[in-house]
Amino acid sequence: MSKYIVRKNGPLYGEVEISGSKNAVLPIMAASLLAEGECEILEVPKLRDVDVMCKLLRSIGSDVTEDYGNGRILIKTDRIKVEQAPYELVKRMRASILVMGPLLAKTGRAKIALPGGCAIGARPIDLHLKGFQALGAEIEQGHGYVEARADKLTGGKVYLDFPSVGATENIMMAAALAEGHTVIENAAEEPEIVDLANFMNKMGAKVKGAGTDTIRIEGVPSLHGTRHAVIPDRIETGTFMVAAAITRGDVLIKNVVPDHVKPVIAKLIECGVHIEESDDLIRVKADVQPLVSTDIKTMPYPGFPTDMQPQFMAFLTTVKGPSVVVETVFENRYMHVGELNRMGADIKTEGRSAIIQGDRILQGAQVICTDLRAGAAMVLAGLMAEGITEISEIYHLERGYADFVDKFRRLGANIIRTND
Ligand code: UD1
Repeated sequence: MSKYIVRKNGPLYGEVEISGSKNAVLPIMAASLLAEGECEILEVPKLRDVDVMCKLLRSIGSDVTEDYGNGRILIKTDRIKVEQAPYELVKRMRASILVMGPLLAKTGRAKIALPGGCAIGARPIDLHLKGFQALGAEIEQGHGYVEARADKLTGGKVYLDFPSVGATENIMMAAALAEGHTVIENAAEEPEIVDLANFMNKMGAKVKGAGTDTIRIEGVPSLHGTRHAVIPDRIETGTFMVAAAITRGDVLIKNVVPDHVKPVIAKLIECGVHIEESDDLIRVKADVQPLVSTDIKTMPYPGFPTDMQPQFMAFLTTVKGPSVVVETVFENRYMHVGELNRMGADIKTEGRSAIIQGDRILQGAQVICTDLRAGAAMVLAGLMAEGITEISEIYHLERGYADFVDKFRRLGANIIRTND
């Protein structure tokens, strides 16, 4: 099994370029099913999750051309052959659920195996289904599959009990071809929702309000192909920001949208890290001043992202003073705590809260990636740990970080990937 071997090698220095956003490209690829013509997607990160989405789209009937060398994917769906997403693909990636909205809109039927993905919580799909029902679909569940059917989708009003990212995206895509007007209230406001809306509007959809808590969609009879470059990955950006901070380095991060990482910037500044930002650059400088603790509470955007919680927690173990982390988005997102404690951290959890004692000298150990972002946290901890950190089950991590090892090595990190 492949592993990462990480050794402490001092502060990270240099420049790193951020790739296109995983969480933006996946719904955009799914939305391309809605188009009559070809969609050209640019700034596509080379990730395992993108590969899975390519396979899923092909299994449905799309013609997908991968041109990763140029960060490009072409998707054309002349005819949807199968309105079903098979278990083998869905279990590998929860975002597979995102084909459900487009399939329902296009063919009046969508059947999908109940999703897997990172085991960071129960992650039900009730809100997605509630949205489809509001548009007139009937839902049936059984034998590990869920099916939505509608002779005709009509616009409706949906209030989301929680601003779920995936449910907001799925409902937007289903509503794009429905007859009439749809309103999604308490919608997710993440930048990836805005990117999806921009892509859909380029295809001829009428989506307004993306980026606020109320999204309005006026259904149209058909959509056409288009060309779109996905936004930079804000979680990869945040991960490199925290990597610079944890190693007390000085790193210039390029191809970023500073606005998308405001909470990470704010919290690093509270800890004493020096940050400079301009149009599409962020410089993180942590090589002079002593760093101190802070508290974080994860929230839907624009709050502190749950996808940055494990990496930030690794950092907080190294600063002066205790910190409290409260995870409000997922109920089981502390699996990395046991792994960090194996490396000498002192973290106690109680329900959704974690108390982190600072000033720890971490020690290298054999640890596992318990999920995608927890894996990144292990690498960051390994960069500061005395001795060797051996990280296994890295397939979680490679689902969502492009060119991970090379980017870190170029900043001076001592990390290698073994293939044994
Ligand atoms: C997306 C991101 C993921 C991120 C998460 C929260 C993608 C591909 N993935 O995941 O990286 O961690 O947003 O920012 O974009 N929920 C329900 N019922 C539902 C749907 C969700 O109760 O029908 C709950 C979930 O269990 C969870 C919370 O809502 O507790 C947030 O989930 P959601 O926003 O839907 O996350 P994803 O779209 O799965």
